[in-house]
Amino acid sequence: MLSPLLLAAARSRRMRGLVTSVPLTRGVVDRFVAGEDLGGALHAVGELDAAGLRVTLDHLGEDTRDRAQATATRDAYLELFTAFADHGYANGADASVKLSALGQALPGDLALDHAREICSAAGSVGMTVTLDMEDHTTVDSTLEILGKLRVDFPWVGVAIQSMLRRTEGDLKDLVGEGSRVRLVKGAYAEPASVAFQSKRDVDRAYVRALRTLMNGDGYPMVGSHDPRIIEIALSLAAGRSPSTYEFQMLYGIRTAEQRRLSEGHQMRVYVPYGADWYGYFMRRLAERPANLVFFLRSFTSR
Ligand code: FDA
Repeated sequence: MLSPLLLAAARSRRMRGLVTSVPLTRGVVDRFVAGEDLGGALHAVGELDAAGLRVTLDHLGEDTRDRAQATATRDAYLELFTAFADHGYANGADASVKLSALGQALPGDLALDHAREICSAAGSVGMTVTLDMEDHTTVDSTLEILGKLRVDFPWVGVAIQSMLRRTEGDLKDLVGEGSRVRLVKGAYAEPASVAFQSKRDVDRAYVRALRTLMNGDGYPMVGSHDPRIIEIALSLAAGRSPSTYEFQMLYGIRTAEQRRLSEGHQMRVYVPYGADWYGYFMRRLAERPANLVFFLRSFTSR
């Protein structure tokens, strides 16, 4: 019951104003977000790097309708790549990009042009780029942009959501050699016409999609914290070399498991940073009602 409300709140400007104006929120946000600026992100990456974990960096922001803001997001990624190269973190690192933050909803090819510049700069320092997947209305556009980017940057990856009914069909075009696909369950509130509604159906669809990816020639990225999914992924990957797939988890979630899996497997942590943390944070609350209790307790414990 709570999850749909929280996901609706994630898109509400009024709720955004309310939640972000409370200074106490910060302490809880810190669990999921590496910092409001690049310095915070670099600090978190330093610790993960020392522990042998790989990273994908997300400069937080989404749904922009403002050209200047879209350009500022592009610039934030360019700044990130320079800093990664300077600190020696670039090789093998990845950047996660939301096309809606680059101007996907604006007319013309702004998001594609920004994404091209991001991919070009990432490639020049030895990093890769993965396109996050947002709500179902953006999937066609995201896959179209992915196809265009992959002409020049064949290593660009994409997140695919098992909750969407269309996913099995989409995967047919995404299992070729070199294709990097991050399989996730899906974090957005979607109608039954396009998405499975029960956890059981979403999990089953995840396993079907995982089997397709593991049997394909691409590079599967298992984006889940679910112990059952991880067990199944390990058994499906048994015939593959450990360098041909990886596990991915979000910053601050199941950190002990991240370290356990990194012994013997490639494990990448998704590290979000930036001032625009509201939407990301609300989706994390929606995934686990216990997080909301923790969040509300931070108000009453003072
Ligand atoms: P599930 O929700 O069943 O959780 C399994 C267990 O994991 C829980 O029992 C709990 O222990 C732990 N857990 C999960 N979420 C938690 C939380 N918020 N706080 C504390 N514990 C938690 N989605 C999307 O739509 N587009 C995208 O591009 C991405 N990108 C992405 C990248 C990476 C690296 C990951 C890991 C996930 C995403 N997601 C995403 C989010 C994804 O769709 C999904 O919402 C979450 O991963 C939660 O689903 P799980 O597979 O972890 O399973």
